Amino acid sequence: MSLKLVVIGSLNGQFREAFKKLATLNGKHAFAFAIIAGDLFAHPQSESPEQAKDVEALLNGQIDVALPTYFMLGKHALPENVTKKLDSASGEVCDNLSFLGKRTTIKTSEGIRLVALGGVLDPHVTTGVSKDNYLPFYSEGDAKVLRGANHADILITTQWPSNIKSGSGVELDPQLEPASYQCIAELDVALKPKYHFSTSGESFFEREPFLHTSDSSTEGPSVTRFISLASFNNSKKAKWIYAFSLDPSASSPAALPTDITASPLATQSKKRTKPTQGSSYRFSDDRGHRQPNKRQKAPPPGPSECFFCLSNPNVASHLITSIGNECYMTTAKGPLSTSDTFEDLEFPSHMLIIPLTHAPTLAFIEPEETRELVFQEMQRYRKSLNTMLMRRTAGKLGSIAWEVSRSGGIHTHWQYLPLPLDLVQRKLVEVAFEVQAENENYPSIKKKDIGNGSIEPTDFFRAIIWEPSGSQQNGEGKDTSLFLPLDASFRFDLQFGRRVLAKLLDLEKRVQWQECGQSEIEEKADADAFKKAFKDFDFSLDD
Ligand SMILES: *[C@@H]1O[C@H](CO)[C@@H](O)[C@H](O)[C@H]1NC(C)=O
Ligand SMILES: *[C@@H]1O[C@H](CO)[C@@H](O)[C@H](O)[C@H]1NC(C)=O
Ligand SMILES: *[C@@H]1O[C@H](CO)[C@@H](O)[C@H](O)[C@H]1NC(C)=O
Ligand SMILES: *[C@@H]1O[C@H](CO)[C@@H](O)[C@H](O)[C@H]1NC(C)=O
Ligand SMILES: [Zn+2]
Repeated sequence: MSLKLVVIGSLNGQFREAFKKLATLNGKHAFAFAIIAGDLFAHPQSESPEQAKDVEALLNGQIDVALPTYFMLGKHALPENVTKKLDSASGEVCDNLSFLGKRTTIKTSEGIRLVALGGVLDPHVTTGVSKDNYLPFYSEGDAKVLRGANHADILITTQWPSNIKSGSGVELDPQLEPASYQCIAELDVALKPKYHFSTSGESFFEREPFLHTSDSSTEGPSVTRFISLASFNNSKKAKWIYAFSLDPSASSPAALPTDITASPLATQSKKRTKPTQGSSYRFSDDRGHRQPNKRQKAPPPGPSECFFCLSNPNVASHLITSIGNECYMTTAKGPLSTSDTFEDLEFPSHMLIIPLTHAPTLAFIEPEETRELVFQEMQRYRKSLNTMLMRRTAGKLGSIAWEVSRSGGIHTHWQYLPLPLDLVQRKLVEVAFEVQAENENYPSIKKKDIGNGSIEPTDFFRAIIWEPSGSQQNGEGKDTSLFLPLDASFRFDLQFGRRVLAKLLDLEKRVQWQECGQSEIEEKADADAFKKAFKDFDFSLDD
């Protein structure tokens, strides 16, 4: 069913009037909801006394907001009394007025998926994601992690995507054209929103719709409309409000718009082999499921409830240690090892390597080129970690990475742990896995390298054991792969890998991760110590 929606530009503190106009318009059209794509409040330095009073009136419920309205984090910080209220009233300023947050993926009650990235790019933050929800700055990491949302009906960004005007015949005074950013372009390409809204002060710009080039043929074409709204009551009288209808259940347009153009947006990442146009993130959790191979069923929880999706605002962002193009890395919550476990490492080094894309297994990631890029980058992280161990401990540690790949899983990832060289060299790690599998009446563990795993017909457990070799300084060494196919004939314990390693490392007291909880301060200290050590090996920091 089609819904009527309305999006408005920055109000810059003039919301009393704007909300009145919106109420009148809503009386005629009965919109499902409104979005304020820019600043709701005035710039703190130019706020008039009346506007300050209006903020208090708004907080006290004395200004009516006639319909459910979401507002963005724009270019200014929010007034302090507003952030206090948002904290205490779970994101509501008053009845019907909710904050979208800086980096957000939400599905509205009407089933519309909104993805928002507020604030302006802070070029000084080269790694990590921002932790503060109210300061008007985002990092490239914030833009990258939102790509993991897979798709959006509506994308809202304070800033413009690079190159959006290219190929368009729509006039825009060059002096009024806002700065634009490649990371926003890449976000648009990855999410292929039906609508992408932004703001542009004294000008309105609506580009011709554009078609995303997609390498998967099973879904129809994806068309994005980019619309940038002027501020309310701007001196040039440019358009500040935009009403439209959207049917969240319609997948692709029946007929392409006549003025459609090719996509002006390109992914420029050097590390991508070709502009895959991020079709990368096509696999969607709520838009019909495609079946990469026959064993797979519909996937469970979507990105907004997933612990491993960086687009989830509740994700433990202080554990994040690196964000690449396809994956990111965090320290493990409740790590098996401690900062005392390994000689020459003063942090646990129990790490998680996680694809940005929300998918239960690697095989679910589409299209194939992206799947391969994800797998390559997971390997790259593993090898960088190995190199770090090699250099830091002069070859005293090997490592293991393990994965439980289940089509009914939630968000695939690898765990990584250093291992004393002696255990690796004497093949005790392999033996420990083999013996434990036997004790539990699992099928026997094979030595087999399954690469990206996508041709395996069943679920599986795999581990890659790395043995550093002699004088090499680059972490190459030798890999041994273990493989255990999982089928319905036995019940597999998801903690198998951790249990075997706990026994092997004499850490049996730490088998249950839930019992190895640390305070946030301890977690942060471990993550920071790790980041410091990994800095020289972190390819995501190279430009
Ligand atoms: C909030 O929105 C609902 C739905 O449009 C509307 O019925 C209600 O009157 C609004 N609340 C206020 C205080 O205007
Ligand atoms: C914030 O709220 C307090 C208590 O309601 C009020 O006294 C104060 O004036 C407000 N601050 C601003 C800057 O409006
Ligand atoms: C519109 O802007 C002008 C000039 O900035 C201001 O004087 C006027 O009060 C504003 N109108 C509304 C409705 O806020
Ligand atoms: C995955 O591995 C298989 C077999 O090793 C290979 O044929 C394929 O090209 C790889 N890439 C992807 C994306 O499946
Ligand atoms: Zn996820």
